[in-house]
Amino acid sequence: MEGEIQKKKILFSGVQPSGTLTLGNYIGALRNFNLLQDEYNCIYCIVDLHAITVRQDPATLRRRCLEVAGIYMACGIDPEKSLIYCQSHVSGHAELNWVLSCFTYMGELQRMTQFKDKCAKNENNINAGLFTYPVLMAADILLYQADMVPVGSDQKQHIEITRDIAQRINGIYGDVFVVPDAYIPKVGARIMSLTEPEKKMSKSDSEDSYIAILDEPNIIRKKIRRAVTDSDTEIRFDRENKPGVSNLLDIISALSGESVESIVISLQGKGYGALKDAAADCVVDTLSPIQAEYKRIMADKAYLQGILDKSADTANKLAKRTLSKVYRKVGLAQSGRK
Ligand code: TRP
Repeated sequence: MEGEIQKKKILFSGVQPSGTLTLGNYIGALRNFNLLQDEYNCIYCIVDLHAITVRQDPATLRRRCLEVAGIYMACGIDPEKSLIYCQSHVSGHAELNWVLSCFTYMGELQRMTQFKDKCAKNENNINAGLFTYPVLMAADILLYQADMVPVGSDQKQHIEITRDIAQRINGIYGDVFVVPDAYIPKVGARIMSLTEPEKKMSKSDSEDSYIAILDEPNIIRKKIRRAVTDSDTEIRFDRENKPGVSNLLDIISALSGESVESIVISLQGKGYGALKDAAADCVVDTLSPIQAEYKRIMADKAYLQGILDKSADTANKLAKRTLSKVYRKVGLAQSGRK
């Protein structure tokens, strides 16, 4: 990958190893991995340093890092083409974080809506890491001179501050960083909660509200059977008045590739039971092969660990390159050591 870095653009993606990955993540991001890695040099980082801004159970956090790596690979990340590693294994993230924090204003960070939300949710643990979270995120991205960052719409503000910091530093020292663009997929943002279909599907809500990528088929069927619809019986796409029904149609359409219109026609007059069965079939058919591949990968932890280590080594080399450029530009003394 190092040799190819000049030819293809760089895509950086970060995922928190807190909680499990959902069908929303799959439709919005994971299912595109295969296509993206041919077009970009993709760097997938499991952001464990970000995760500890809220209290984590150590054993669970450690397990989830491997789990996320396993799921990503099961969804098609090819370690020959892309990097997948843990953030804490590449010290450059924390080092660049410091430098960037000296070019980020308190006022900018205070405006971040996610910080305000998280303060409201973690009243007893409003730590400095929560406040400077966007700076570490900027460091993740700028460390690799990434061109493109796929994120959910909730992360848009964090990409904007990343761009502001990069432009500010470029303005002072000349071209130091590539200024990245956000890539916000349209479909994934629209997969809604099964129990409250006005809200986005999220792993932090109740278990019945989302489908985890690793949910067993019978669990998937049960959750979809219980999904909130409405007191009407008509299958019709109308996000405003029929959010639950529209969400199920969206899921079927995203997974089957069929248009919503033709799905509506084929289910006409059949009732919500048929709609739910069709949705459950699509989800089970999509996730079953991924789950089988996941089991295969997780059965060989040494292999998985080897991939994470090798990726971290490559990431480290790329990171060092940017970091020494930054240190030189801002005037930190050169080391005489080789
Ligand atoms: N903040 C992102 C989220 O919660 C995760 C993240 C951390 C990230 N660093 C990143 C995403 C860098 C993209 C690029 O979803």
